Amino acid sequence: MKILMVCLGNICRSPLAEGILKSKVSSENVEVDSAGTAGYHEGELPDKRSIAVAKKYGIDITDQRSRKFTVADFDAFDLIYAMDESNYHNIVSLSRNNEDADKVKMILQELYPNEDVSVPDPYYGGDQGFENVFQMLDQACEVIVEKING
Ligand code: 4NP
Repeated sequence: MKILMVCLGNICRSPLAEGILKSKVSSENVEVDSAGTAGYHEGELPDKRSIAVAKKYGIDITDQRSRKFTVADFDAFDLIYAMDESNYHNIVSLSRNNEDADKVKMILQELYPNEDVSVPDPYYGGDQGFENVFQMLDQACEVIVEKING
């Protein structure tokens, strides 16, 4: 199983989603990566505030570097989780066929199946926004792990 987490900049939300899911699964069974729909922060470390909130919960995400989502990711991953509706539409607009498009889901649909709930972009806010994002992603990743483990 290969899972890709995607947000806009790949420095705030999707690096947390990647780190949290990795902390809950065995790397032998589940490969997890993250990317951004925009390349503004290509090659950068995650945002300091994401690094800090992950560290608070015992997760080190400082091995991650921002990269841009590419069409090849549809071939490399089984599931692609978008953090918000804008990310979702940007990824789906790059899909080549229904098989590609069907791999894309909003991550909070795992918690709220029939609602289009987005993980709010915490970039322009304060530390509480990052705590909030961490908690949402932690809950969503719990559900993802339950599904993987059947
Ligand atoms: P992310 O947050 O998509 O969760 O990584 C953002 C990071 C950077 C920007 C926007 C959102 N930016 O505009 O640079």
